[in-house]
Order: sequence, then C-alpha cells, then structure tokens
Amino acid sequence: DYSEMPEETGIDHSLSLLREGYLFIPNRRHSFHSDVFETKLLGKRAICMGGKDAAEIFYDNEKFKRHGAAPNRVKETLFGEKGVQTLDGEAHRHRKAMFMSLMLPERLDELADMLKKQWEVAVNKWKEMDEVVFYEETKKLLCITACQWAGVPLSGDELEQRTEELSSLFESPAAVGPKHWKGRHGRNAAEKWVGELIEQVREGELKAPEGMALHTIASHLDLEGNLLDPKIAAVEVINILRPIIAISIYINFLALALYHYPEEKEKIKSKGETYAEMFIQEVRRFYPFFPAAVALVKKDFTWKGYEFKEGTLTLLDLYGTNHDPEPWDNPDVFHPERFAHWDGDLYNFIPQGGGDYYTGHRCAGEWATIQVMKVSLDFLVNRMDYEVPDQDLSFSMVNMPSIPKSKIVIKNVKPK
Ligand code: HEM
Repeated sequence: DYSEMPEETGIDHSLSLLREGYLFIPNRRHSFHSDVFETKLLGKRAICMGGKDAAEIFYDNEKFKRHGAAPNRVKETLFGEKGVQTLDGEAHRHRKAMFMSLMLPERLDELADMLKKQWEVAVNKWKEMDEVVFYEETKKLLCITACQWAGVPLSGDELEQRTEELSSLFESPAAVGPKHWKGRHGRNAAEKWVGELIEQVREGELKAPEGMALHTIASHLDLEGNLLDPKIAAVEVINILRPIIAISIYINFLALALYHYPEEKEKIKSKGETYAEMFIQEVRRFYPFFPAAVALVKKDFTWKGYEFKEGTLTLLDLYGTNHDPEPWDNPDVFHPERFAHWDGDLYNFIPQGGGDYYTGHRCAGEWATIQVMKVSLDFLVNRMDYEVPDQDLSFSMVNMPSIPKSKIVIKNVKPK
C-alpha cells in the first residue's frame, strides 16, 4: 500500500523557486514536515527531496537517470549538450573515468603549484591598486591557472574576454533577462574557441601537453573506439575550465568568513593544516553555492511508502542537506570544529553532490576544489595583509549563485 506524498497544490511553482532560491526546498521540507514532497515545476510534476536517506536513493543508478533531466536554460549555459552530466550507465562510467584520470594526486599538486605562482603575481599587482574587487580579480587569477593546468593556450589580451565568457556560464543559469542571455552567448563563444583548439590538437597544429585536459579530451575514445565529436569535446574541456573559475565563489566565502569570524584567522595560524582543512569544509557546508541536483526517475519504485513514477523530474536539496540538524548540530552556526567528528559519510555533506565519484555523478573536481581553497586560504591568512573597508557584504539566499553584494572590495594589499 502506498501513502500520498505531501503535495504542494497550484499550477506551477517555478516562480517561487526563483523567489525563494536556496530555501525553496528546505522551507517546504520544514512546513510539510517531510523529506520528500511533490510540486509542479516548469509545467510538470516534480519531486523534491533532501537529507541523507534521500541522497542515498538519488545516487542509486537503478532508480534515477540523468539523460533528459537538466532544464534547457541550464543546458544552454552551465552544462552544454551531451557532456558527462547527461550520460548514464556504461557511457557515463567510461567518460567519468577520463575525468577522474585528470585528478591524480601529482596533477593536483601541479595545480597547487601553478596557482601559488598566480597568487604571487596577483598580490604584487593588487598592492599597486587603490581598490581590489576581490571576486573579479580571483576569477581572472583562476582563469589563467585553469587554462595553464588544462593545457589551453591563453594570451594576455584574451584574458578579460575568456574570463567573462566562462564565468557567465555559472553566473547566468537562474538569471533572467540580459544576464541570462550573456550566459547563452558565453556558451556559444566558449564552445567555438575550444572546439577550434580541439581540431588544432587533432591535426597536430597545436602541441598540447600529454596528461593535461585538452590533450586527454581531444584524444579520448568513446566505447565504440571513436573520437568525441569536436563540439562534445569542447563541452568537456569547458567542464574543466568553467568550474575551476567558479571556485572564486568559494574563495570569496573564505574571505567573508575570515572577516565575519576574525578569531578563526588566529586559529588557522596557530593550529596548522588540519584546522585549515576543517575551516574549508565548514565554508563549503555553511555557504550557499549549488542549490540542487536534478535527475529523472528511471523506473517505477516505492520508497518509504511513496510512489516514484518513471520519468518524474526529481530535485535533491544540496544546500538544505548540508544544513540538516541531524547530523549538523546548530547548522546555522559557523563552527569548523564540527568536522573533527564528521565520519566522512558519502550522503550527509554534499555541496558538490554525493555518492561515488566513479560510478555516480558526484563532482569530478571536489579534490581540486579543496586543493585550490587550501592554497588560497594560505595566501589570505599567511601571505598577505589587506583591509576590508565598509561595504555591503550581504549575500543573497535567493540569487543563484550567491555572491557577496559588493563582490568584496579590499584595500592596502601588502604581500607578507
Ligand atoms: C558535477 C559542484 C568544482 C567538475 C558537479 C555537481 C555539483 C558540483 C553539485 C553535480 C552533482 C550531481 O549532479 O549529482 C561543484 C562546486 C564546485 C565544483 C560547488 C566549486 C567551484 C568543480 C571543479 C571541476 C568540476 C573544479 C573540474 C576541475 C565537475 C564535473 C561534474 C561536476 C565534470 C560532472 C560529474 C558527472 O556528471 O559525473 N559539481 N563543482 N567541478 N563537477 Fe563540480
């Protein structure tokens, strides 16, 4: 026997989703007193769910699939068409293995070394500037690093343009009007640029270093032994470049947390690396970034007495799951020490998705993200002095992605 899933009535709630942002699912989980409920989004029935148990079924490949799940506005900006995010089964595992081969420890160390050099260059530039708009500057710093690490050539006079195009991809998916269209234009421009590089590598006109993303993706063979279509190969190279630049959002939240909790700075200095890691985990848990992951029910099943019908759009609440009172005591308090007791569960701390990297859709770049945050936190705490003048540092729980309003202006930067 089935129970009725709690259901939000009304024709469509897409607007509420945009209006309530990160809290759309958590608000309803709270008011329905249920980790799963039904609503209508984009004119269709949709299931929303959150919490560790829900995450566990969401990442069960027998229950959910990804092909056809992402809304158009997301595909046309953030994801692109036919990339790893949209694959299922063997095809997904094969493509994902290629991504994970780029994340070997020695390659992540190389990423850290490249990034350190760019931080040094940046800090020396910022010391000459009256005001530094930290969000804008960290995007450029990461764009240079991402291209270098991926083996993608980037000249100095291209930097502004490519940074803008690639960042528009993650700044625009939930936006309306010109900001959204900028993302669609950015996708076309970036795919054209990278698609040409793929062709040049294949024709031997461009020497791409082996083991780096551009070379690996240009020469990757699918399960039938064919090279990827150049457009799909471009989508996958962009799946490396874009999210590395997006780490600028987390770096901004590192700076914001240091500002709001000044005692943390002293702790990071005195307690060393283990504490710095806990601080980074807490920033990824506490601040909003990716609101939800989406999938379709693969075939009919029942869970906790509720029916899940084949083809139903399903959203997993990432932000809310990281703020569940169980296991996160006082979830809305910033408290890095909580990670001293965290058991490494694959489903209760999911800012970059849950489950397994190789067989599921958990973020391929989670280790790279943590690596980049470590280097950046070290600069913010130990290798530079700076002042934060009065400004509006509030961040929105509605706009996705959320970025501090002032984009964090800093002054009097001095290398240490
Ligand atoms: C997937 C978040 C950085 C590459 C994802 C997913 C999330 C996510 C939520 C989807 C999980 C799912 O669908 O179940 C983030 C956040 C980042 C970040 C918040 C911080 C900036 C990175 C980096 C890279 C990367 C640095 C690469 C260098 C990918 C790829 C996928 C993915 C390739 C698709 C995986 C798949 O479908 O199997 N990420 N990510 N991400 N991420 Fe990240």
